[in-house]
Order: sequence, then C-alpha cells, then structure tokens
Amino acid sequence: MKLAVVGTGYVGLVSGVCFSELGNEVICVDKIQEKIEMLERGEVPIYEPGLKELIESNRNAGRLSFTTDLADAVRRSDIVILAVGTPPLPNGEANLSYIKDAAKEIAQAMNGYKIVMTKSTVPVGTNEKIAAIISEYSVHHFDTVSVPEFLREGSAIKDTLNPDRIVIGTDSQAAAERISALHRPLTDQILLTDIRSAEMIKYASNAFLATKISFINEIANICEKVGADVTKVSEGMGFDKRIGSSFLKAGIGYGGSCFPKDTQALIQIAGHVDYEFKLLKSVVEVNRDQRFNVINKLETILGDLSGKTIAVWGLAFKPETDDVRDAPAFEIIQTLIDKGAHVKAYDPIATDNFKKLLVHPEVKYCGSAVEAAEQADALCLLTEWKEFTQFSIEALQKLLKRPILIDGRNVFSEEQLAGTPMIYYSVGRPGMNQGVREQMPVLQF
Ligand code: UDX
Repeated sequence: MKLAVVGTGYVGLVSGVCFSELGNEVICVDKIQEKIEMLERGEVPIYEPGLKELIESNRNAGRLSFTTDLADAVRRSDIVILAVGTPPLPNGEANLSYIKDAAKEIAQAMNGYKIVMTKSTVPVGTNEKIAAIISEYSVHHFDTVSVPEFLREGSAIKDTLNPDRIVIGTDSQAAAERISALHRPLTDQILLTDIRSAEMIKYASNAFLATKISFINEIANICEKVGADVTKVSEGMGFDKRIGSSFLKAGIGYGGSCFPKDTQALIQIAGHVDYEFKLLKSVVEVNRDQRFNVINKLETILGDLSGKTIAVWGLAFKPETDDVRDAPAFEIIQTLIDKGAHVKAYDPIATDNFKKLLVHPEVKYCGSAVEAAEQADALCLLTEWKEFTQFSIEALQKLLKRPILIDGRNVFSEEQLAGTPMIYYSVGRPGMNQGVREQMPVLQF
C-alpha cells in the first residue's frame, strides 16, 4: 500500500518506518525542514534503539522517503496517516491546532479517494471534526479511521511490530477492511469499533496504567510506615491474572510525553460533559507528590540541604530514551536548587535535552556517572539505566563524600548492599534502609 505519514515525531516516524518494513511504500512528511534534512542524511532526531538501522535499510530498499511537501505526499498515497502532536494547553486540554491545520492541508491536496487514519491521541469527537474539515476543503470522497497508538518509548519498534492489539475505529466497512489488511501482518488481535470508542480506548488505557502506578506508589508509601516490602507486595499481587504484574513498579512517579498529558486531557474531556473524574484527579495528585519523597528522604538523613552537593543519576523520564518531557528529575532538581543545594547531574543520553529545560549556576552537568558522584554528599538515582544498576556499591561509596544513596527506582538489592556502609533509602522497602537500621514500627491494633 502507499502511505503518507504526516508528522515525524515519535509516533509518526516509528509507525512510518515499521509500515515500510512490512513492505509498504511510505512517505514521511514534516513541516520542519531541518528534521527532514537530518533524516535524509541518515540521522535520527530522537533516540530509539534500532530505529536508525531500520530507517537505513528501508530507505536503501526504496520503500521509505522523507519530504516537507505534504501535498505531493498526499497525492501519491492511498492512506494518509495523521501523526502530528497534540501537546497540552495550559488548562490540560489537548491542543488540536496541528491536527486541524494538517486536515485542511490534506483536504486541499486530495486528488481522489483517500483513507485518513488518525494515530495522534485526540479527544473523543476529534475524528468527526477532521471529517468535517476535509469535507469543507475537498470535493473528493474519503473515510476517516481512528487507530490509536500504544507504543512505548525505548521499545517503540518492538511494540509497533508486536502489538498486543490493534484498535480500528471507523464507520466505513471498506476502510475497516483496508486498514485491517494493513495491520494483519502484525497481529490477529484486531478490534473493530466505532470512532468515538477507539478514541476513548487510548485515553482509558493510559489512564488505567497511570492509575496502577499511582496505586502501587501509595502502597509503597504505606509499606514504608508498616514495615512491608512493596516489591514483594507487587510480586504477590501480580500473580493474580486479574491484576497482572506489569506497571506495578513503585518509584518516583510516571513522566513522559503521554501519561501526564493524557490523564489531564481525560479529566478535561470528562469535565466538558459535566463529569468529575475523581479517581483520575487523585492519580495525578499522587503522582505529583511521589517525586518529592526523594527530597524528604534526603532531608531525613542530611537535615538542611543548603550548601550540600547532591549527585543525580538519570534525567530521562525512563531508560532507553533521551526524552525528558515531564521527567520527575526536573522538579526534583528544581526543588534541590530552591533548598540551596548544589547539583551534579548525569544521564547517559538525555543531558542535552535536559539542558534545554534547565540551565542554572547551581547545576553542573557531568560527562560521566563517576564525575557526578565524586565528592557528593548524597546520590539520588532517578532513572534505572543499566549503567547505574550495574555500578558496584563499593566503588560508589568510595566516590561519594558521604555514603548516602537514595534509590528512586528500587534497583539495588540486599545482596549488592550487604557488607557495605552505604546509607540506603529506596521506595517502599523500609527493611533495606541500611545504615540507619530503623526499628520496624510497632503496629497498634
Ligand atoms: C506510555 C504507554 O505505555 C504507551 O502505551 C503509550 O502509547 C504512551 O505512554 P511511555 O510513556 O513511552 O508509554 O512509557 P512507559 O514505559 O509506559 O512508562 C511511563 C512512565 O511510567 C515512566 O516514567 C516510567 O518510569 C513509569 N512507570 C512505568 C513506573 O513508574 N512504574 C511502572 O511499573 C511502569
């Protein structure tokens, strides 16, 4: 099939490349000339394992190309995939201006029947708006289809090529068959539904996963008070197939380009129809508070943070990505600065992106994990990069001025800490508060 993908962000670029890998002819379009020039030189604007190689092989096979000429790409395609951004507005609502502009441009370029398939995450009813815009600016017949994207950063290619399910929302039988055929090489798990339900599935899925994370983070906070181990609690819960073991890792809360944005957007969507989504509002609030537990733990051990040097390992919102959007590290570092600390920060690949968010005389960006830890009063681990999880505790302890480690991702085990004098606090594992050796609380019944 011949596809045009409008928007070469995470979703557009990965989807386009994966569809070309399946043998389709794909033209990826973006308004930003520098981005297209980069891609044409074989450079990739985002860090995603395996993406560069896949782009190269599909370009060499002549199935994948890049352009800024949207009209030409639309004219040469049967299916136009909308994958432009829907960033949050200050009130949390999704900004649909890129979607609307793209729909108009697509309509004006149409030279015959097209299927317009939306992959951007859009509020319920948006695909109907897209259809209205296309009808206004084009005389040609078309169908709209909502196919929400569920890929995760860091494993985007694997997720796209091996999806758990494909959701296809449309009111056109012909378009449903065509889009099913496009996805059938990926999975048999295809759900055909109406457009509004497809749009809702994406928000509901992300909101549910965010809820699991906030839930386990609150359980972790209670574990810290009652002397239980949250990793054992989630393991025990996860064996129950009705609960499932994924997304039950306690930590410093979720970040990234999706969960924070989509939870806020769903609260707004509900609000527009006079429904207060109380549960989801709490999920967001719990997530906001969770990151500050790192600061509370530092203060428990060090007291006043003013004048102290705090090392931070990990700036990306999760490993295997250079994405720092809504990364918990931002607010944690900002709070450290506000409390008068000096910060030495390191991330294997996200530092350049983080610097665009935060340049401050009290923050020194370091070129290595060792440099960041050297002579620091304490170290906070905020992203579970393999490089950090494999670091020897003995070596780390020698680098630090004081052997204090706040592990925001529960990556170190009892065995790794055994016999070291490291003062260690993690999340929801009070039995591992080594160095402090807190007495287990006496529980009142
Ligand atoms: C998410 C969804 O998983 C994906 O389906 C959707 O398309 C986009 O949003 P992504 O943001 O790339 O993907 O990353 P994900 O792996 O889901 O992690 C999101 C955040 O949750 C990260 O900050 C991660 O550290 C955190 N998280 C995840 C936890 O704190 N605990 C967990 O158990 C899982």
